[in-house]
Amino acid sequence: MPRFRSDIAALSPYKVGRQLADVAREHGLDPSEIVKLTANEGPEGPFPGVVEAVSSVLANSNRYPDNACWDLGHALSAELEVDFSNLMFGAGSVALLVEIATALGGPGTNIVFGWPSFVMYRFVAIWSGSRHVEVPVDSAFRIDLEALRAAIDDETTVVVLCNPNNPTGTIHPADDIEAFIDSVPESVLVVMDEAYHEFVTDTSYRSEVSLAVERPNVVVLRTFSKIYALASHRIGYAVGSTDLIIELRKAQAPLTVNQVAQTAALASLGQPAELERRRSENTARRHHLVGALGERGLPMSESHTNFVYFELGDRVDSVVAGMTTHGVLIRPMGGGWARVTIGDDEENRRFLEALDSALVDK
Ligand SMILES: Cc1ncc(COP(=O)(O)O)c(C=O)c1O
Repeated sequence: MPRFRSDIAALSPYKVGRQLADVAREHGLDPSEIVKLTANEGPEGPFPGVVEAVSSVLANSNRYPDNACWDLGHALSAELEVDFSNLMFGAGSVALLVEIATALGGPGTNIVFGWPSFVMYRFVAIWSGSRHVEVPVDSAFRIDLEALRAAIDDETTVVVLCNPNNPTGTIHPADDIEAFIDSVPESVLVVMDEAYHEFVTDTSYRSEVSLAVERPNVVVLRTFSKIYALASHRIGYAVGSTDLIIELRKAQAPLTVNQVAQTAALASLGQPAELERRRSENTARRHHLVGALGERGLPMSESHTNFVYFELGDRVDSVVAGMTTHGVLIRPMGGGWARVTIGDDEENRRFLEALDSALVDK
């Protein structure tokens, strides 16, 4: 065998969740009957006009994509009221995280983030050769900003703040976030992961896009995978100062954002009514699920997103396995907790039905 890096060789590959076909085969179900609520995807397809727009670019598949993401970048810069030079696109925001860790991490550095939070922060730190410092959330399952600040030391090059946080769904008001950012040394990059930003309706919350443009040590990450329902195409973006974006681009392979993704994202923009419909449907469904889980006496954190984090305790693995036999997939998390993505009305009904059966059977 070739000599692999020992820290990489020690990893287990990231589990994206079980393949529908495997689960269907195992439980004698038709794959179309399976309700997948494991990955915080949107319950419906892309925005109106996306499928048509994408079909028209497929004939040009022999050509490399536009490396500058010119059309999409200009449309998005108008929507966000930032300059084109403040934007960088990636093959999903995960790819942007890898590029950030590549550019700022490495041996002798560390990357600080809350825990539980998005598990990829741990992976990208390890891949880059950085140490990862995981700071436990507070008693309300919110990122503990004070403890996060205290964990930053001379070796820290990146601190990642997921707002809203995955998997707990919690948010911080903008004033607290901005006070946190002010307290971080300028030599440390603050990555604001706003993957679930579009779902938030709480008025204390604000995106940090404008701050990111002004401050050389702040970058906001967003994705088209969630409310825009383009998870399959892998496209996200970073917003930061022009100088920061120039530096980050140095760690990005060329041509990583394919033309289908760029076209799909572009066709999704400029549809505020559609965005609002999806946001308000998600909010109503979340209220329904939160109410139903509450009626079953299951503790939860306060979600502002398209998923709910709830406690099953010791029975978590048996309940999740039991639900799988009913064709409903949710994600077991550590410490007796589970996360369910908010589906459409029928999926949510199936979720509660499977949960009830699994709770009785366990
Ligand atoms: C907090 C957070 N950031 C980033 C991502 C990844 O998004 P993308 O699909 O753009 O890579 C996810 C996906 O689950 C997420 O939960």
